[in-house]
Amino acid sequence: MAEEKKKRDGFGSKLGIIAAAAGSAIGLGNIYRFPCEVGNNGGAAFLLVYLAVVIFLGIPVMLSELVIGRRSQSNSVGAFKKLAPKTAWPIVGYMGVLCGFLIFAFYSTVSGWTLEYIVKSVTNSFQGKDLATIEKEFTAFHDMGWRNVMWQGIFIFLTGFVVFKGVKNGIEKYAKILMPLLLVILIALGIRSITLPGAKEGLAFLFKPDFSKITGKVLISALGQGFFSLSLGMGVLITYGSYVKKSDNLTSTAFSVVIADTVIALLAGLVIFPAAFSFGVKPEAGMGLVFNTLPMLFNQMAGGFWFCLIFFVLLAIAALTSTISLLEVLVAYLSEELHLKRQWATVVACAGTMLLGAFASLSLMSDTPFAIGGRPVFDLMDFISSNILLPVGGVLIVIFLGWYFGKQKFFAEVTNEGTIKAPLKKVIFFIIRYLAPVAIAIVFISGLIK
Ligand code: PFF
Repeated sequence: MAEEKKKRDGFGSKLGIIAAAAGSAIGLGNIYRFPCEVGNNGGAAFLLVYLAVVIFLGIPVMLSELVIGRRSQSNSVGAFKKLAPKTAWPIVGYMGVLCGFLIFAFYSTVSGWTLEYIVKSVTNSFQGKDLATIEKEFTAFHDMGWRNVMWQGIFIFLTGFVVFKGVKNGIEKYAKILMPLLLVILIALGIRSITLPGAKEGLAFLFKPDFSKITGKVLISALGQGFFSLSLGMGVLITYGSYVKKSDNLTSTAFSVVIADTVIALLAGLVIFPAAFSFGVKPEAGMGLVFNTLPMLFNQMAGGFWFCLIFFVLLAIAALTSTISLLEVLVAYLSEELHLKRQWATVVACAGTMLLGAFASLSLMSDTPFAIGGRPVFDLMDFISSNILLPVGGVLIVIFLGWYFGKQKFFAEVTNEGTIKAPLKKVIFFIIRYLAPVAIAIVFISGLIK
């Protein structure tokens, strides 16, 4: 245990918290899931709600998690045990661990695809193909269930390897260079996309809201997407917060991460929708929206081969820094609460995820046996974890902070015991205590009434 402790601290002192938290936040959620959700929920109207969610709820919830983590110096379950001994609050932590497990299981499916697409890029396999062919090949790939499982396994192994080896410092350092590169590539793709013929319609879809489209489902989806994209509600940022130095500024960390994450998501939207409308990919195409539109876009670009390859490599790395954070929640819990050796904790968590994750991958085959009520298990895992468990976790976290943990300790933590200024602390605390719980509850109830 003592040794464990040392390891966590050492890792923390060298890790840039912004890089780690942004690494967790920026991932497939921004580039793959965000366009799917925008497309399925009416475009600009969804985007507006989403932006409100990340600004008014994302920042306060993120700050709450960081405060809880740094104050307790513990994993997501241990944090509540320490800060609220002999209460039921640790349930929030257990829920987070369960949710992390579920998310890792289906997230690793799509992460695996990035590896398949790297291979496809290297072999130049999209070149000269039309949309119908690319779409057919995407479906055919899903139908090769075990190939999906193989890539998924490789991805889980890679994640485990990084966490196992404890070379996070390395990966986070690379991520610091590579994520800005992802930004540059997205800007280049965005420029190409909005200059395609017919791109205007895509821009209108993304930016011209039709308020009649805001339904309970849209609200819940935007809430879920906001939490998912920012890695909130399941203890990633509690766990990472416990690695943060006492001298770091938590408020500015939360702001930086939310801004970076939102910029990347918006850029992804700007790349996908103009191109999708131009090529005739339907906005409701879900997974195909990204995996079919992008290869078409690369085909329209000078140097498309390189753009394609670099893009999928960066996407895989973005996914990896997110899966690392998911695994870290599980490993921190297993090693600190159940006293497994860190290495064994990694093996157990990866093996468990592989088992559950295989169902997610195999459920996307056309003739899958793994569907419930006609919906693939993949979708159910996503829906339950992102749209239900994360917001519920988030609301419990802000209630804990606002009503149990309290103002004094919150102010002490965000001002580093009075050594730095945190001018927004009162407003943010007000949101945490009153606004966030009410807002999340309203969204939830409106979704249920629908
Ligand atoms: N935020 C990540 C993304 O947008 O890709 C996914 C994620 C990571 C969700 C960690 C939740 C989480 F705890």
